[in-house]
Amino acid sequence: MILVSGKKAAQQHHTASIVQVDGLGKKFGGPPVLNDISFKLQRGQVHSIIGPNGAGKTTLLNILTGIYKPTTGHVLLHGSDMSALEPHQLAACGVSRTFQNLKVCFNMSVQENVLLGRHLHLQTGFLAGILRLPSMQKNEEEAHTLARELLEFVGLRVDAALRPDALSYGALKRLEIARALACDPQLLLLDEPAAGLNPQETMEIKKLIERLAEQSVTVVLVEHDMKLVMGVSDNIVVMNYGQKIAEGSPETVAQNPDVIAAYLGAHGKQEKAEVTP
Ligand SMILES: Nc1ncnc2c1ncn2[C@@H]1O[C@H](COP(=O)(O)OP(=O)(O)OP(=O)(O)O)[C@@H](O)[C@H]1O
Ligand SMILES: [Mg+2]
Repeated sequence: MILVSGKKAAQQHHTASIVQVDGLGKKFGGPPVLNDISFKLQRGQVHSIIGPNGAGKTTLLNILTGIYKPTTGHVLLHGSDMSALEPHQLAACGVSRTFQNLKVCFNMSVQENVLLGRHLHLQTGFLAGILRLPSMQKNEEEAHTLARELLEFVGLRVDAALRPDALSYGALKRLEIARALACDPQLLLLDEPAAGLNPQETMEIKKLIERLAEQSVTVVLVEHDMKLVMGVSDNIVVMNYGQKIAEGSPETVAQNPDVIAAYLGAHGKQEKAEVTP
């Protein structure tokens, strides 16, 4: 449970790989969108996936979370092939995510939005819910406490009964992270969590990612904000046109000529400075 400990739990497991992506490819009919992508994710580390627009980053996250099935290759979670699993099955295995575009339900309260992410873990059945059996009430109480704790964990000090339209864009992004954390993930994938945020809000996202890694959550970060990526990542996979063109520490990747060329090709000279940590 991520909220309990502040220390890096089980340091000795930090080098253990929890996910192995092996020869992953994806086609939608035309040319491949992903081609022979392989890498490993280590427990409690922050792995960023970067690359120009259209490189295939979100498609990769969609495969890792079961939304798309790979055309070739496999994704192993703790050594077992998870490529064929559906999103809810992966969530039950501890894989959770946020989306590039906000998926907040504006007709529900802040707390209900968080609890949507908990839904999978509530053991009580439909009938018990209707009859308001004690087991259901206990689960409900626990879920409400959890929602409050998660909102605090992501730094959202708002009335949980509010509708999300009362929140700023930066707060909504954090609400989505709280929802993703509600199913107590061991692997959390964040698709552009800092997009549209100001530098202060981005810094808070950085601290949040660091706290998650401290508590042994493995984080996959897809992000265009190079300052955030270079400051928070243990390892970076760089993609371009569906290929992995580089992988390594922020320092290694920032000096890689193929990476610099990919960013220059995509965005012009200004980006060169932004790849540098
Ligand atoms: N469902 C789909 N059907 C057809 N093509 C798709 C589909 N999903 C993604 N693509 C294509 O795959 C390529 C990679 O898209 P993807 O969204 O993964 O890129 P990205 O790296 O996340 O880009 P961005 O940084 O802009 O978010 C694009 O050419 C996109 O048009
Ligand atoms: Mg994307």
